[in-house]
Amino acid sequence: MRHLIAGNWKMNGLNASLAEVNKLKSLLQEKPANADILICPPATLLPSLAQEVAGSPISAGGQDCHTAESGAHTGDVSAEMLKEAGAAFIIVGHSERRADHGETDELVKQKAEAAQRAGLTPIICVGETREERELGNAAAVVSAQLSGSLPEDTNYVVAYEPVWAIGTGLVPSLDDIREIHSLVREKTQEETRLLYGGSVKPANAAEILSIENVNGALVGGASLKAEDFFGIIQAV
Ligand code: 13P
Repeated sequence: MRHLIAGNWKMNGLNASLAEVNKLKSLLQEKPANADILICPPATLLPSLAQEVAGSPISAGGQDCHTAESGAHTGDVSAEMLKEAGAAFIIVGHSERRADHGETDELVKQKAEAAQRAGLTPIICVGETREERELGNAAAVVSAQLSGSLPEDTNYVVAYEPVWAIGTGLVPSLDDIREIHSLVREKTQEETRLLYGGSVKPANAAEILSIENVNGALVGGASLKAEDFFGIIQAV
């Protein structure tokens, strides 16, 4: 299975940040044999980033979408709009959206279906909080999120991102990642790509990416700098 190395820029990036994408393109030289590369910038940068990566091994994606195709939803962006702007994937249900905007599993599922309706592949995020892990509930929490968030159409990617590992430099043990990924695998198809996310860096990428049922990474901070992101791609 080809790995997917996806960068989530979150609410970071102005036009000047496209220089990093240009740098990544020149570092890449040729398409990596066993990895697909994706960058999900803020929606404002999507059209120019998509133009910048056209014809390169890098794809562009969105970070969230509304469930509807269009309508009276001030400030929201639809999957169809993201597609037209150049997206091939859309991240849905990121823990920051679940926490900041109260997104439920049901809403996440509807957003995943909206992405599929537009012909895009949703990257559906799940993951436990620190408290849930300390209480020994990580597997149960992830399991419930999967039951509620996965649409019927199996054209999706799943990202396991423990909330406490995001932006903290903390990473679960390799055994803990293996355990959750094998649980996710049981609930998904053999060909579904399962990404790990949470403080993935060039220094830890190789060991994380070698875990069974880890088919790529969802990278936040380290995707903002071309050299760091390239280091993770090289680890594949
Ligand atoms: P960091 O790589 O900055 O920990 O972020 C992970 C993440 O949330 C990607 O979606």
